[in-house]
Amino acid sequence: MIEAVRGTKDIFDKDIAKMDLVIRKAEEILKRYGFKHIITPTFEETALFKRGIGEGTDIVSKEMYSFVDRGDREITLRPEGTASVVRAYMEHKLYGKENFTRFFYYGPMFRYEKPQKGRYREFYQIGAEAIGLDTPELDAEIIAMGYHLLTELKIEDIELQINSVGCPVCRKEYREKLKEFLQPKLDKLCHDCKDRYDKNPLRILDCKIDNCKNETQEAPKMIDYLCDNCTPHFERVKKHLELLNVPYVVNTRLVRGLDYYTNTAFEIVTNKLGSQGTVLAGGRYNNLIEEIGGKSIPAVGFAAGVERVAMLIPDDDITDRLDVFVVNVGDENRGYLYKIVDMLRKAGISTQYEYEVKNVKNQMKNAAKQNAKYAIIVGDDERNENVAVIKDMDNGTQEKLTLEDIIKKLK
Ligand code: HAM
Repeated sequence: MIEAVRGTKDIFDKDIAKMDLVIRKAEEILKRYGFKHIITPTFEETALFKRGIGEGTDIVSKEMYSFVDRGDREITLRPEGTASVVRAYMEHKLYGKENFTRFFYYGPMFRYEKPQKGRYREFYQIGAEAIGLDTPELDAEIIAMGYHLLTELKIEDIELQINSVGCPVCRKEYREKLKEFLQPKLDKLCHDCKDRYDKNPLRILDCKIDNCKNETQEAPKMIDYLCDNCTPHFERVKKHLELLNVPYVVNTRLVRGLDYYTNTAFEIVTNKLGSQGTVLAGGRYNNLIEEIGGKSIPAVGFAAGVERVAMLIPDDDITDRLDVFVVNVGDENRGYLYKIVDMLRKAGISTQYEYEVKNVKNQMKNAAKQNAKYAIIVGDDERNENVAVIKDMDNGTQEKLTLEDIIKKLK
């Protein structure tokens, strides 16, 4: 028996109902904020992610699904959406058409990570990117939008953590200070952190291993090294989050796993998903567009892991009920049954009926099995009078109504 590949999954039943709900709700909210849908390809030239996300990151150095296609092109299944959106923005010269562009997207992403609860090799993200403005008020709105997206889905017990990772100028100085601090402790750090020391020392602050966390307790903080441009930016983001009534905590150890961030970095976390507690994350990335060969254009955005958000939605919030099951008393009423089914479906009411010839008792059993809200029962009399009996499956009451009145009632 061939099974789904490790780290991938089939999504159905309640899980797909929850993921659909997350995507539908997010799409609705993002549109309200002025974001427009974009679909980019699921694979891109490998160089896009190498340059965009950074060669020293875990994603690029060990998690990408990369291959050479039949035309000798170096291809990678996208591990995230930001680089692709920015590539599309440049390719279509959207900067020439408007000075502010907002896109949202959703779809599968691919990372060769160790699978566990909430972490897959193929997973879905819904993301938003706002390109063209460097103002901290925009960072605050983007963060608020991510926060509202989760609270509108009634997701509780979340914490918004923010930090500033500075700009290349102040980060350079901080990096040296951090390395100075880490140097004498290098022997005590884990294998991965030793590796990060030269490639990406800031990531050491994000190590999940207790010993590394303890050793770096007293490490210098990026926010103490922010330059004259980055300090006021961070202060204004915080101020506007307060004005927007979005609660946050400053987490000075927050560094993201992608190299493109400048200034604002943020994550919304929960303690309900074990170690994979980050449900939505993002930040500002003012140098990415230039990095991949474009102009210098500032941008900010985030992405949420759809599976992780879906896992936080209670089963009770998923109402997957059939509206109507139509039952016929005697198969000679099929024609009338089809007419009713057609009318109901055209009116937007979900409707099922029995395909095989079965007695009323069995048809009613099927109606109950399908969790129908109503059964509509038609026999010879009803057909002759152009009416039907509608039965409320929850309380058992029934009444005889014209087809028009049935539709009115159900709507
Ligand atoms: P990221 O933090 O790598 O950021 O991913 C964003 C979210 O995707 C995570 O917080 C998590 O919920 C979900 N996620 C990541 N990896 C997995 C996985 N293996 N399985 C399940 N869910 C996962 C980005 O991707 C950036 N592009 C976000 C961004 C947009 N920054 C600016 N604009």
